Amino acid sequence: MKRCVLVTGGAGYIGSHTAVELIEAGYDVVLVDNLSNSDEQAVEGVRRITGAEIPFEKVDCCDREAFEQVFRKYRFDAVIHFAASKAVGESVEKPLLYYRNNLTSFVNVLELISKYGCSNIVFSSSATVYGEADVQPVTELAPRKPATSPYGNTKQMCEDILRDTVAAAGGAIHGIALRYFNPIGAHPSAEIGELPRGVPQNLVPFVTQTAAGIRECLSVFGDDYDTPDGSCIRDYIDVVDLARAHVVAIGRMIEGRNKENFEIFNVGTGRGVSVLELVRAFERVNNLKLNYRIAPRREGDVVKNWADTTLANNELGWRAERSLDETLAAAWKWQQEVMKR
Ligand code: NAD
Ligand code: WQD
Repeated sequence: MKRCVLVTGGAGYIGSHTAVELIEAGYDVVLVDNLSNSDEQAVEGVRRITGAEIPFEKVDCCDREAFEQVFRKYRFDAVIHFAASKAVGESVEKPLLYYRNNLTSFVNVLELISKYGCSNIVFSSSATVYGEADVQPVTELAPRKPATSPYGNTKQMCEDILRDTVAAAGGAIHGIALRYFNPIGAHPSAEIGELPRGVPQNLVPFVTQTAAGIRECLSVFGDDYDTPDGSCIRDYIDVVDLARAHVVAIGRMIEGRNKENFEIFNVGTGRGVSVLELVRAFERVNNLKLNYRIAPRREGDVVKNWADTTLANNELGWRAERSLDETLAAAWKWQQEVMKR
């Protein structure tokens, strides 16, 4: 019998790509999303790529009654909880919105999986929990640093909520927190991708929108950091590779291969790339010139952050496969598709 996975935030950027990989790995999926930061077109995109009938429920995970109806209607072997608000700057201006949405939705998911006997959950955490780590690359054992935004705080709090819930369940619930580094790119079909609302805050959507002429000029925030070319270093992980990490995490728990009831894995490439390197790679791969200028440092940026992925490589048997070039080509192809629409 096919296993069924509930994907909350399933119309979003990472959720939609994960839905594709789950279906291609033989799972049934049910997507739940309140469309607060996405469009139902993404669900259509997943349907077109996979050719599968995919149930979509427009539900707010904070609405306990409506959300419980979903658990009454279907039976889940596992849940992947993507649903959250994710804009760091907005979270500083509207902290309560972030605490309410990200914490309430997560508590609801945990209560409902307990009530309906679904024992496996993956939580979308973030490398933001490491802050400015003392040692690079960062392992899962690096201490979490005090969060610098309410958004980052919700990720730390949700990790703790999951750890406590799993501990109290005495083996009845298994949880995996995946700490994503910087997800970028799009599905190679260009049927789904990232759809930022308003002015993009993240680097790659700003790059593609600048190349498309929607933004006049990319600001490279700082070229005087203590890095080889002076710009900040990150670990840019292709969204399809990231999606696959969820599939293996789910399989690990469903097949009982997890070593602890609560586990944490970094999901990155293991390679640090500077902002200027990324800009040049984008220009080269897509054969275009990008209008950019060096701007002052952005407040709150960490200088460098890239993953030690040894644990995910050895324990999950997962590693990033797509090159930065492939990923930047897919990002540009997606941007052009968005323009056509
Ligand atoms: P996204 O905004 O594209 O997807 C999140 C989806 O959740 C959206 O479709 C939104 O409409 C939905 N949603 C939000 N609140 C909801 C609610 N209460 N009920 C139902 N649906 C709700 O973002 P994404 O980039 O796909 O991120 C997915 C997850 O990964 C988030 O938890 C995010 O914090 C985490 N994450 C993202 C990044 C990143 O850089 N993209 C990095 C680390 C972690
Ligand atoms: C990457 C690099 C910028 C835009 C954020 C969140 C983090 C996580 C991922 C969810 C930095 C530089 C950017 C621009 C630039 N999200 N940059 N010009 O800051 O690593 O992480 O997204 O969990 O929590 O904080 O990603 O894409 O914003 O920036 O020079 O217009 O690109 O300074 O060095 P970041 P980013």
